[in-house]
Amino acid sequence: MTGQPLPSFAAAGRPTLAQPAADPAARIRADLAAPSASIAPRWFYDDLGSRLFRAITALPEYYPTRTEAALLQQHLPAIVEATELHRPTLIDLGAGDCEKAARLLDTVQPSTYVAVDISAAFLHEALAQLRRQHPGIDMLGVGADFAERLELPAVVPEQRRLFFYPGSSIGNFTPTEAAHFLGSVRAQMHGPSALWIGVDLHKPREILELAYDDPLGVTAAFNKNVLRHVNRLAGTDFDVADWQHVAFYAERLGRIEMHLEALRQVTVRWPGGGRRFEAGERIHTENSYKHTVPGFRALLATAGLRTVEHWTDDRGWFAFFLAVPDLA
Ligand code: AVI
Repeated sequence: MTGQPLPSFAAAGRPTLAQPAADPAARIRADLAAPSASIAPRWFYDDLGSRLFRAITALPEYYPTRTEAALLQQHLPAIVEATELHRPTLIDLGAGDCEKAARLLDTVQPSTYVAVDISAAFLHEALAQLRRQHPGIDMLGVGADFAERLELPAVVPEQRRLFFYPGSSIGNFTPTEAAHFLGSVRAQMHGPSALWIGVDLHKPREILELAYDDPLGVTAAFNKNVLRHVNRLAGTDFDVADWQHVAFYAERLGRIEMHLEALRQVTVRWPGGGRRFEAGERIHTENSYKHTVPGFRALLATAGLRTVEHWTDDRGWFAFFLAVPDLA
């Protein structure tokens, strides 16, 4: 967190702290003008994009959310026991509507719940409801984009921090970025603390590709909606009808790639510039890396985190890891 002083827990109504957002327009325009055009996946999540993502998680083809939820439902008491943190500070990274954490609160019994998300407005509503249901838990919302660096405001208690990063969002980082991000989580651990993290695993191509290119076209709508968000943020004049959704498993790189492909020659303009895209030219919008259990253990280790245990489903499609600071 940078910028203005932050209100504290003592402030009336338990605040939602918003990180002042840097003007993204210049960065978006530069990424579009680069020889291989891209749009950062964080821009998927405007109001409609967040709703579309929620719809994706309800699709039969999109197995990660459901598989992780079943794992947690089955193993939560064992996970809590192995974590050995009494009344932790539960820090929910990418909390969204706080629905996943809400299912943990009765078993985890945190003293404080800290919901961190890029959309502070979304958090505010979700937390208001949770506070009514769990009056004994201190709750704080932090509006922050932690994709590049995780920094928590000083009001977040330092003791017994339990970081919760579900949904395999770690897959949206390259391995280098993931190691860097995990290192910044490690740096926020002081004394006994832990990380709970969900990780999507490699599996047959057909299953992966259907999950990211569903027959109803929800993922296609989610991908194309980023253009409307970018129009508002960067003053571009994309017409979504000029673009189609493309998703495939790049097996050698170990990732699903999502792109938007121009259906015809398109000129996109923005204040002070623009770019022509030939028919078939693509804008890269997302990578979703898939891991192996030993590979992810090794990644955690490079960030100074030791795997205590991991849990997987019967099909071996998804893994949930418990890791702690490696003090060796
Ligand atoms: C948020 N993230 C983990 C999702 C994923 O599976 O990579 C985003 C997503 N993109 C398309 N479908 C879902």
